[in-house]
Amino acid sequence: QIKTVIIPLLALISVTVALDDGLLKTPPMGWMAWERFRCDIDCKDDRENCISEDLFKDTADRLAEDGWKELGYEYVIIDDCWMSLLRDEHGRLQPEPSRFPGGIAKLARYIHDRGLKLGIYADMGTHTCMGFPGTTLDKIEIDAQTFASWGVDYLKFDGCYSNPIEQMLGYPLMSKALNATGRPMVYSCSWPVYVGGLPPNVNYSLLGDICHLWRNYYDIQDSWDSVQGIVEWFSNNQDDLQPAAGPGRWNDPDMLIIGNFGLSVDQARSQMALWAIMAAPLIMSNDLRNLDNSARAILQNKVAIAINQDPMGIQGRRLLQEKNRIEVYWRPLSNSASALVFLSRRTDMPYLYHTSLAKLKYQAGTYEANDVFTGSAVRGLNATSEFTISINPSGVVMWYVYPEQQSKLTESLHHRHKTFHKAKPEHSTVL
Ligand code: GLA
Repeated sequence: QIKTVIIPLLALISVTVALDDGLLKTPPMGWMAWERFRCDIDCKDDRENCISEDLFKDTADRLAEDGWKELGYEYVIIDDCWMSLLRDEHGRLQPEPSRFPGGIAKLARYIHDRGLKLGIYADMGTHTCMGFPGTTLDKIEIDAQTFASWGVDYLKFDGCYSNPIEQMLGYPLMSKALNATGRPMVYSCSWPVYVGGLPPNVNYSLLGDICHLWRNYYDIQDSWDSVQGIVEWFSNNQDDLQPAAGPGRWNDPDMLIIGNFGLSVDQARSQMALWAIMAAPLIMSNDLRNLDNSARAILQNKVAIAINQDPMGIQGRRLLQEKNRIEVYWRPLSNSASALVFLSRRTDMPYLYHTSLAKLKYQAGTYEANDVFTGSAVRGLNATSEFTISINPSGVVMWYVYPEQQSKLTESLHHRHKTFHKAKPEHSTVL
């Protein structure tokens, strides 16, 4: 019964809707309230942290004044719990007036005045996940228009309290409704999470046509366990997920939790490195008013960001899972460059890993690399030469790798002469 309804619907949808609007040529960067601030609506006892316009204004100030915006972090995204429990007399969503006294349009102006963009949250269903008013099929158009009229730039459309049939109708309808407003808005779909995240339940080519990004898997929590579980799931299913990504269409393994309570410095670097490999959105959920310097340095690492934002937009892959619990991840980048991440899933001590670029399927030749987190350069790496790196437990070594450049040949030979005089030809140690 259901199949006969679904198949013609799918055919209809894929010919009538297509997003080719030039938005999100590279994965989005910004900040979202959810993981760090959840549904804290207690502005009486927790003024600083409750979901209110002040939190978003403060965050916009920090993004604009502390160097984030220049690096590309531009979206300030409101998550659940911003709404009033009642729609207004015209059936429109409205913010809870005690916590958003200025209204969303004014908040959007505040954010735009600082050169940033505003994102908002709604839910395809009867209620949001936290029980606020949902967007049922009959409300999709009015809600899209309301968001456009406020100057919203990004919609996260969740899927609590709806069934797969409603989702199959609602997600494409919202795509159409957003397009019809004439205001360019990024459209983030949580649809795949609600149907298991994988084909055949999820049609990734349809999703890429109607959404700019989509949540594939469960919510991130403030722990290394959670980060590891997400990476594991994405890697185990990379044959289905990796080809779905590209400019304007991204898998979303969820927010960066760097700067919160659950990750060590090594684990924070691991999250940043793996999100860059996965071409994932770099959407932080942390307290930018109180951020320690190590978290700031990791989140503001220019090479990691450049890898994440590579214009080719090819998502990377897990290449190897060694018995010794070292894993190697790889992403091809423009200008014949690539990124490598060596991740240790060990829990003992720094591990000395021996390999060569040839073992990682690099073509013959000489390469150079930048170590993304130490900033040091690795020169004269012959594909066949063995090298050794030291990887901390639950940490990474991340390299930006590129072919040795002709123009730099003399300089590099000179450098190699100085720094590698002790290295044996077939085994250079680059600790
Ligand atoms: C779902 C989403 C989260 C967050 C919450 C809000 O769990 O996956 O990212 O938006 O709802 O209630």
